[in-house]
Amino acid sequence: MILRPTWTEINLDAIRYNFSRVKEIVGLHTGIMGVVKADAYGHGAVSVAKLLEQLEAAYLGVSSLDEALELRQAGIRAPILILGSVLPDLHAISGDPVLSSVTFTLCTLDVARILQKEANKQQRPFRIHVKVDTGMGRLGVWYEQAAKWVKNLAEFDALQLEGIYTHFANMDERDLNATLEQVGRFTWLLEMLEVQEVVTRYRHAANSLAVIRLPASHFSMVRPGIILYGVWPALEPLADSEQISLMPALSLKTRVVFLKHTPAGRSLGYGGTYTTKRPTRIATLPIGYGDGYPAALSNKAKVLIRGMQAPVVGRISMDQTLVDVGHIAGVQVGDEVVLVGTQGEQRISIEETSRLAGRIPYELLCGITGRVPRVYHNTAVLSRGAINCAPAS
Ligand SMILES: Cc1ncc(COP(=O)(O)O)c(C=O)c1O
Repeated sequence: MILRPTWTEINLDAIRYNFSRVKEIVGLHTGIMGVVKADAYGHGAVSVAKLLEQLEAAYLGVSSLDEALELRQAGIRAPILILGSVLPDLHAISGDPVLSSVTFTLCTLDVARILQKEANKQQRPFRIHVKVDTGMGRLGVWYEQAAKWVKNLAEFDALQLEGIYTHFANMDERDLNATLEQVGRFTWLLEMLEVQEVVTRYRHAANSLAVIRLPASHFSMVRPGIILYGVWPALEPLADSEQISLMPALSLKTRVVFLKHTPAGRSLGYGGTYTTKRPTRIATLPIGYGDGYPAALSNKAKVLIRGMQAPVVGRISMDQTLVDVGHIAGVQVGDEVVLVGTQGEQRISIEETSRLAGRIPYELLCGITGRVPRVYHNTAVLSRGAINCAPAS
């Protein structure tokens, strides 16, 4: 039971659908690492990971050991790569068998030493993927030095080098030249390693947009995150040939908790940033920036009530948002309100909402806070050729 009527609905069938689209693109021989970090971009890491495991994702990607632990404690058995670097300080959970059940990103010898020590203690090999920097300037060994650096790993006999990977910095630009350069550097490195007879099971680079736009970057595994959730990653539309059909998985909903007639000339909310122009009805919604509905949407966003759009008026506060419903007949306390998602013929997308808020869609998804409960649905519907989330049951 949800006592505070603000919630997200997660359509797991949508994720299933999006996963199949990725599979169609990459083909049978390329593995898919489903990226479920940051609580699966706000969709709930455990539920999404269970689904991806059923769908036979080759790997799951998380950001930290804590996120990996959460999945293992929930009984997830699929291989998990920790995409971030662990601190050279694992003693807090030294001896924990979970350490040998996950795969570590490696790019420093300090961490290699710690992992080797721990692996020896547990008398089990630890799996590692070496992260190579081909142009992101973030985590990773610079590509020019990587082949030589990998030779150092020979002395760490308890570490199994299972993968080499890199990450793209400019995938959302129309011009693919910078990414092609990164692909070229990575390919060059793989060739150098082959000469050294280092051939790893996994070689991976592609995030969501690279899955769609750049087959040459698929290598032996791809790492999509946001498209699995049905959200388009780029800020601007790319060429038609680069679009794929996706089904958004997340809806954000609430209910009208208060309603009142408001005369013309009344100012609304903190700072009085909106003044009514005519007598109207203003509905109060129990959602605000404390739930991850950004204050930047104040006086900009629209919500859906009774299948119609209602504008957000006044400044969004921590727990409450006001909408003008004067033009919508019959609105009552208790009516369902869609802030992101579909109601009747209307849809409000995460992409449009984040554009209005001046954010990227990733931020909005990850920003939905812990006090917003999730309700999971498995009832996808396809309507009139367009792809929509299922209506709330
Ligand atoms: C290393 C790495 N790989 C893959 C992804 C997935 O990216 P996207 O959600 O754009 O597909 C991320 C996300 O930030 C990442 O950091």
